[in-house]
Amino acid sequence: MENSNSEIKKVIAKKAFEYLTSKLHKDSILGIGTGSTTNFFIEELIDKNPTLKAIVSSSKASTQLLENAGLEVSELNDVGGPDFYVDGADEINERLEMIKGGGGALTREKIIASASKNFICICDASKQVRNLGKFPLAIEVIPMARSYVARQIVIMGGTPEYRVGFLSDNGNQIIDVRNLKMKVPYEIEEKINNIPGVVANGIFSSRRADLLIVDKNGEPTILK
Ligand code: A5P
Repeated sequence: MENSNSEIKKVIAKKAFEYLTSKLHKDSILGIGTGSTTNFFIEELIDKNPTLKAIVSSSKASTQLLENAGLEVSELNDVGGPDFYVDGADEINERLEMIKGGGGALTREKIIASASKNFICICDASKQVRNLGKFPLAIEVIPMARSYVARQIVIMGGTPEYRVGFLSDNGNQIIDVRNLKMKVPYEIEEKINNIPGVVANGIFSSRRADLLIVDKNGEPTILK
């Protein structure tokens, strides 16, 4: 099961690279996400090693994979917004709104996604949902605000759980929330962002994907 899932992720990552091949050039800035699907895209990137202006990464883990292979990773502050950002998702709906952050990299992912001209989401079909919200929603919080944010989430109808022993790349803590109603994801995203102490939440609605590469009947398919 895990193996065939990995095979699908690999095929999707290859398709994403193929899609980008004609679009990337020496002046392109490429943003790299985080997670197992993105790792297959990183493998492609390392293998094909196209000439680019810069690569930026959304996590220490992805940066390490890239740098271990000799690829240079730049700071977003130094290079400006990427032309393309490639990343996975935990859930994605028909509007290409997503829940992300299962790996805890949501804040940097959201920053780079927002700074990018194009967001290409790569995932297997198991991530496609009608309504977002079954996958626990990660919220990155300033540590001293954790209990306060959790209480506000309870008032909103959610069931928060502290991700024990986990610190984000930014040194913050994560609360995973179940049972939140997400009929209008944008409203929930905004409401959670307004709680003092919240750094970011894993709803990607105000910056959704522009393109989805997903398997359909066993074949990688591009959806806009
Ligand atoms: C990382 O924090 C997440 O947002 C990932 O992008 C997401 O969990 C998808 O990961 P997989 O590709 O491993 O499913």
